[in-house]
Amino acid sequence: MVNGIDFRVFRDLSYGLYIVTSKDGDRLNGQLVNTVIQVTSEPPRIAVIINKQNLTHEFIEKSRVFAACVLDESVTMKFLGPFGFRSGRDVDKFAGLSYNEGVTGSPIVVEHVLSFAEAKVIDQMDLGTHTIFVGDVIGTGTLREGQPLTYRFYHENLKGKTPPNAPSYKPQ
Ligand SMILES: Cc1cc2nc3c(=O)[nH]c(=O)nc-3n(C[C@H](O)[C@H](O)[C@H](O)COP(=O)(O)O)c2cc1C
Repeated sequence: MVNGIDFRVFRDLSYGLYIVTSKDGDRLNGQLVNTVIQVTSEPPRIAVIINKQNLTHEFIEKSRVFAACVLDESVTMKFLGPFGFRSGRDVDKFAGLSYNEGVTGSPIVVEHVLSFAEAKVIDQMDLGTHTIFVGDVIGTGTLREGQPLTYRFYHENLKGKTPPNAPSYKPQ
């Protein structure tokens, strides 16, 4: 129980895991998220929820673009570590990493990524600790076939943790 709310229900919600990237001029950054969803089909739109303290938040607010890269089950904790637990303020996550430049200028991660969608932000909502950004999808691509990584697989097989900046974090 946290303030009278039983958080077990949130543990039962299903998610995928994605690297969301953006840029600020020629600076690139990206972070792990479990909160990418398709919100409409005509026109195709996606949304993502980003913590205000994250460098990725700063980049999306400024550039108004982001890319969502869909991870697959071949990923390792070593590969995910910088994206989920380090800030681009302290480390260049794209140094030595294979990536392509998308139509928005956001980097598209090549390794362990099945497909990607790039979006131009059309609106955002302040959620307190986080912002939800909604964008028109203006580019997509498929890199390989495989099994999309789920939040459940991340916890059960990779034994991954959820840090405080994730919307799905359980406060103590
Ligand atoms: C499994 C997992 C899921 C996460 N989901 C989100 C999310 O949906 N939104 C968010 O803002 N942060 C999320 N995070 C936390 C960010 O990935 C993390 O704070 C990252 O270091 C931010 O990097 P940046 O400062 O370079 O943008 C998640 C982390 C993990 C490990």
